[in-house]
Amino acid sequence: MEQKRSSFTGKLGFILAAAGSAVGLGNLWRFPYLAAKYGGGIFLLVYLVLAVTFGFALMIAEIAIGRKTGLSAIGAFKALDKRFSFLGYVAAIVPIIILPYYSVIGGWVTKYLFTFATGGGSDAAADGYFGGFIGKVGEPILWFAIFIGATAVVVLLGVEKGVEKVSKIMMPILVVLTIGIAIYTLTLPNALDGLVYYVKPDFSKFSGTTVLAAMGQLFYSMSLAMGIMITYGSYMKKDVHIESSTRQIEIFDTGIAFFAGLMIIPAIFSFYHGDEVLIGENLTKGPGLMFVMLPKVFDSMPGGDIIGALFFILVLFAALTSSISLMETIVSIFMDKLKVGRKVACLIVLGISVVIGLPSSLGFGVFSFIEPLGAGTSILDFFDFITNNVIMPVVAFITCILVGYVIKPKAIIEEVETNGKFSGKKLFTVVIKYIAPVCIVAILIFSVMEALGFIKV
Ligand code: PFF
Repeated sequence: MEQKRSSFTGKLGFILAAAGSAVGLGNLWRFPYLAAKYGGGIFLLVYLVLAVTFGFALMIAEIAIGRKTGLSAIGAFKALDKRFSFLGYVAAIVPIIILPYYSVIGGWVTKYLFTFATGGGSDAAADGYFGGFIGKVGEPILWFAIFIGATAVVVLLGVEKGVEKVSKIMMPILVVLTIGIAIYTLTLPNALDGLVYYVKPDFSKFSGTTVLAAMGQLFYSMSLAMGIMITYGSYMKKDVHIESSTRQIEIFDTGIAFFAGLMIIPAIFSFYHGDEVLIGENLTKGPGLMFVMLPKVFDSMPGGDIIGALFFILVLFAALTSSISLMETIVSIFMDKLKVGRKVACLIVLGISVVIGLPSSLGFGVFSFIEPLGAGTSILDFFDFITNNVIMPVVAFITCILVGYVIKPKAIIEEVETNGKFSGKKLFTVVIKYIAPVCIVAILIFSVMEALGFIKV
């Protein structure tokens, strides 16, 4: 049973709420390390092309499906076509897998906030600090528990509105601070080499995995292919223009990710100048990159502890609004499907998340011998990979088939045109019907073959 739907007040309300879900660790933590790892400029270019094609089409489709049906993912797909009911369930698995490891990273952010707030910034800047921290057993679990506990309390008490209000103030400050830190990073010696790496595409680094990684990141960052935007669309009033809202969310989300990369990647080239091995090591560092490079940047500035603490508190809020929206989505599904109250649903979700999150947290220490995706990878990488690079592309593919061939693009176009022109209508139709499904399948096959060693790049 669907509960009574509340709606967003006006366009700004919708954009802010959707941006609150979209902007989070995906932009600040995940985007920079992927861009560093997958060749800098080429990743950025592929990401931007995908954002204005796939991202645009899929976000419009999801929001329109939500608004048209007035339901969240599970009900919405069923209402459109009974044969596609399963898609809502597949999409629902994604937040269940993401929330636990998202909270592990949220815990790291909380730890760094604490470290900077207590004047430990220069310790955090030392080589080996981060590795030492995540390699421990108790401490990372404690911070993980604090982060997911805080998320659960907010969802349990139903006080998201309060957090949203605070984050509406925090978000603009985060944007300004991120841009400020990025500019500062660029003034560091030799940072411009890093700028070149980050913005100049090197086509010899192009491969199927680059596209797959960029596509996964796009879905993750914009909260697509997991039913979330459908839910947000269902709260959207009929007088809000879907196309222009989508563009604004995309620009905002991509802009923050871009500046996050700019504050971190050039720093690698500056701090490890002249040492190709260390530069290479840090470019491929993965999930720890932000926690290793930013403390060095802060340590090099006057008042670095204060700026670092301010930065991490803002990141914490961005992460919390995202984790709250993840947990809220799962809780409402459980309430509907298991017919339990909010409290019970919350406790079940909390329990599941702790169980799934613990191995991710321990994966850098006692469980570091488990390398599910090959040497140097962790359990956290594995959960991240199966959601972003496997399940989400599959959900996106089936959504394209549903929209392109079953309900037909016209159904979405009509919904978008309820109040004004849909200027990207042709692009939308071509992407949803042909380009996206063909590319997703090609990329999936290509990257599987690449992983199995059939293709060398
Ligand atoms: N889009 C969020 C980020 O970039 O951090 C991650 C996310 C949040 C995904 C909330 C899904 C979601 F419901």
